Amino acid sequence: MQIWMAASEMAPYAKTGGLADVIADLPAALAGAGAEVTCVLPFYRAIWEKIEVEDLGMDLSIELGDRQVRARILQGKADDGVRLFFIRRDEYFDRSSLYGTTRGDYDDNSERFIFFSKAACQLPRLLNQRPDIFHAHDWQTALVPLFIKLEKQVSGFFSGTGTVFTIHNLAYQGTFWGLDFPMMNLPDEFYSPAGLEFYGNINLMKAGILFADRLTTVSPTYAQEIQTQESGCGLHEVIRSRARDLHGILNGVNRQKWDPAVDPLIPAQYSVNDLSGKWTCRKALLEEMGLGADPKRKLPILGWVGRLAEQKGLDILLPAMDSIVDLPARVVFLGSGDDRYEQELRELEKRYPGSVAVRIGYDNRLAHLIEAGADLFLMPSRFEPCGLNQLYSLVYGTVPIVRSTGGLADTVRDWDGRSGNGFQFRGYDSPELLEAVGRAVAAFHAPGEWARIQAEGMREDHSWDRVAARYMEVYGGI
Ligand code: ADP
Ligand code: GLC
Repeated sequence: MQIWMAASEMAPYAKTGGLADVIADLPAALAGAGAEVTCVLPFYRAIWEKIEVEDLGMDLSIELGDRQVRARILQGKADDGVRLFFIRRDEYFDRSSLYGTTRGDYDDNSERFIFFSKAACQLPRLLNQRPDIFHAHDWQTALVPLFIKLEKQVSGFFSGTGTVFTIHNLAYQGTFWGLDFPMMNLPDEFYSPAGLEFYGNINLMKAGILFADRLTTVSPTYAQEIQTQESGCGLHEVIRSRARDLHGILNGVNRQKWDPAVDPLIPAQYSVNDLSGKWTCRKALLEEMGLGADPKRKLPILGWVGRLAEQKGLDILLPAMDSIVDLPARVVFLGSGDDRYEQELRELEKRYPGSVAVRIGYDNRLAHLIEAGADLFLMPSRFEPCGLNQLYSLVYGTVPIVRSTGGLADTVRDWDGRSGNGFQFRGYDSPELLEAVGRAVAAFHAPGEWARIQAEGMREDHSWDRVAARYMEVYGGI
């Protein structure tokens, strides 16, 4: 099976969040299952700084409204049996970030990703290779299924190509003003509610939802939630109209990168059978974050890693911090994003020296150290399509405390005194969060119980091979 993927992120080259991890790991797992996989990505500055590429000396001419814009094709050094192609146009992608700066999104994002999606669709024809499946991810490539569908009507080239669109996060839809519509060169009828029009704007995510042969999202619970008015971000009706073709498939964990038994980024390795290395990591984390030593394990360390965005639950966590520190417990934060949260976290660190430590920025090594060295992992998300950090924390024996939403609900089972791999709470409010933190901290101080909770999480199988098999079923069903 020839599978093509178009996406806007891939770890470790270009990453803002979990999408990048998925685009690194899913194609490799599909290749491992026997598929021939090709990924197409924009040639960002971050990519040319990190990977060797070959200029194939080939150009595409992309129609953007009444302009023709050239794209250069580069090939990356194949990794994990996956072929990598990059679409180069420096005017769009040779920038310091993927989507924008702290001042906001780049104001030509519609043009950048319409261009990229068109180029990704033209590439198979340039190489004269017919994909069996073209799989697109999130709003940045949501036009791909539509362009393929329209191309089918004018030529036979994609007649055997099925399309799949994965929603990683419905909160980001690629909504732009209607004046960008002509850039897509679509028939006028697509500027309507049955097409891409969305309350006077255009909505690129809608293209993927409406026109892909199959839809997937990254957990079964999120697949249900996005069909409700409450969590459908205005698109619930459109999604509901495709409910029969929608599958919720949980993400996996890449054990070559995220496994305490082999992780080279942590100071000591460990496994469920011998957790002594975790104590070394714990000590190293306290030292690195400037928190005092705790050899008697009196003060549980709660870790938080992520994008500082409304999604991630800081609005209920920050007001609960006084009570968490009082338990007593310590909290370490690593994140970047919204200025407002960065400032609040910095103030919190000043208010509680020795109890709260904050690092603002993106730091993969520190993310690994927090996963390994913390005792508990906080993920009180307002919504969470899948979430990878809670999966990583399960693998690292760092017990997750999560709000029961999306993929968090599907992967964390509340400890009931006999079984469970973490702690859950339901309502999006600080008192419920605090109640769960209180139970988790009590369990932390009961060593026998604690070891059982840790072991239950550490023994689970989150392998990408199982996930890839699910995607193969979806591809095969088209
Ligand atoms: P999302 O995709 O919504 O951001 P996920 O939990 O799916 O959330 O994935 C987040 C990924 O990004 C994880 O691999 C996590 O370790 C990483 N990450 C997020 N913020 C940071 C940061 N500040 N430094 C290092 N890694 C980070
Ligand atoms: C999104 C979601 C996150 C998910 C990731 C990868 O960024 O916010 O929950 O894990 O995509 O699918």
